[in-house]
Amino acid sequence: MNVAIILAGGKGERFGGEVPKQFVVLHGHRVMDYAIKAFEQHPAIDQIIIVVPANWKSEIIAEYPQHTVVLGGNTRRESSYNGLIACPTNTDNVLFHDAARPFLDYDTIQRVIDGLKIASAVDTAIPATDTIIEVKESKITDMPIRDFLFQGQTPQGFHYDVIRKAHETISVETTDDIRLAMEMGIECISVAGSQFNFKITSSNDLYMAERVTQINARKTNKIPNFKGKKVLVFGGTGGIGSALVKRLIEDDAIVTSLGSEVDISQKSLPDNLNQEWDIIIHSAGLFIKKPFAELSVNEWDNVMSINFRSAFLVAQLAHKTMKEGGWLTFIGSSSSHRGRTSQSVYAASKAALNNLTQSLAAEFLDNHIRVNCINPPRTDTAMRHKAFPGENKNLLANPKNVAEDILRYCDGDETGHIVNLKYSHQFQASR
Ligand code: CTP
Ligand code: MG
Repeated sequence: MNVAIILAGGKGERFGGEVPKQFVVLHGHRVMDYAIKAFEQHPAIDQIIIVVPANWKSEIIAEYPQHTVVLGGNTRRESSYNGLIACPTNTDNVLFHDAARPFLDYDTIQRVIDGLKIASAVDTAIPATDTIIEVKESKITDMPIRDFLFQGQTPQGFHYDVIRKAHETISVETTDDIRLAMEMGIECISVAGSQFNFKITSSNDLYMAERVTQINARKTNKIPNFKGKKVLVFGGTGGIGSALVKRLIEDDAIVTSLGSEVDISQKSLPDNLNQEWDIIIHSAGLFIKKPFAELSVNEWDNVMSINFRSAFLVAQLAHKTMKEGGWLTFIGSSSSHRGRTSQSVYAASKAALNNLTQSLAAEFLDNHIRVNCINPPRTDTAMRHKAFPGENKNLLANPKNVAEDILRYCDGDETGHIVNLKYSHQFQASR
């Protein structure tokens, strides 16, 4: 039996603020919730123990009735031990994880589990990329060879009896559990961690974490099934829109696809759209590529009203019709996070969509409407070919892949995400 122990008992003094960092909200979920979810989704994990400060215990028990919640101690070491003694008697392995590391992925958990087949103590680590120096009173006292230096992370996995004995016999103060096993003379091995699995320590790290949530983190997850779901797609005749509709129909979703027959630059939407939708996707957009100096105010208004003002009507429709909750998904653009030459109004309208998404996600939380914005990379569509004739097609994304990645966000709990899609074959593209 494998038990994951989530250490959420700290005060987060370096982070500061009223709420300990592991309970701070990151895109609609607590920092701690991400790691819990990663363990919940891994089939090798049989039980989850969450170690929390006393004043959070009742709230976390209410939220996670399926897991064991225990009190933390004054030090991380004490918190680990409290987790250990709460393990069931038939526990074979434990994996300790810092609640302040939200971006734990499936593969890292798997590497620790695999490591425990050949060793009784397994650390996760990434190579140090900076040169590490030892400094005492401003003087450099050592400069170890970087090739051998790694940064330790969590999870750290152990055979249960070994780590329990280490805790009960070794008396050093430590910031992690591997040190206890080392001190006991146990052979500890290291498996690859992940650059994204950093620990939120200071408030700057939260800023980084917000950016990381914008990367397509769900790539390895299965695409959900949309059978019987009522889906409304604005812009369903365009390149990405039609790929979305095709994929949804293959799944036996009940799809209403709208193209130019509904003019979303108007100030209202047709009344017949007032139906209960499970999913609304806004994929309609107008692309004008022109130097700013040549743009007319009408062109500006046109792009803004089709790409952005329409989002007001679409979001209102979602709010009005999704009585049982649902998914509102905007299709943005990679230019939204970097304005480009001759794309001023287009890039600006898409950037506005990104911020709107975050505001709506927070406002619609209680209505259970998840709002996400997916920014596709340059994609192999007719609109793209018209605007960029002669472009190397090998560097374009396939609309089918893009559609599938969009649909991952039309299901599940994720909300407030700005997802910047990019495929490995596109990384050599210029700009
Ligand atoms: N931790 C814990 N119990 C403690 C101290 C720390 O469970 N008494 C947990 C933290 O909640 C965190 C992880 O151990 O998830 C890593 O510790 P650290 O980053 O040092 O967190 P804090 O101790 O909370 O922060 P600080 O050291 O800045 O006060
Ligand atoms: Mg600490």
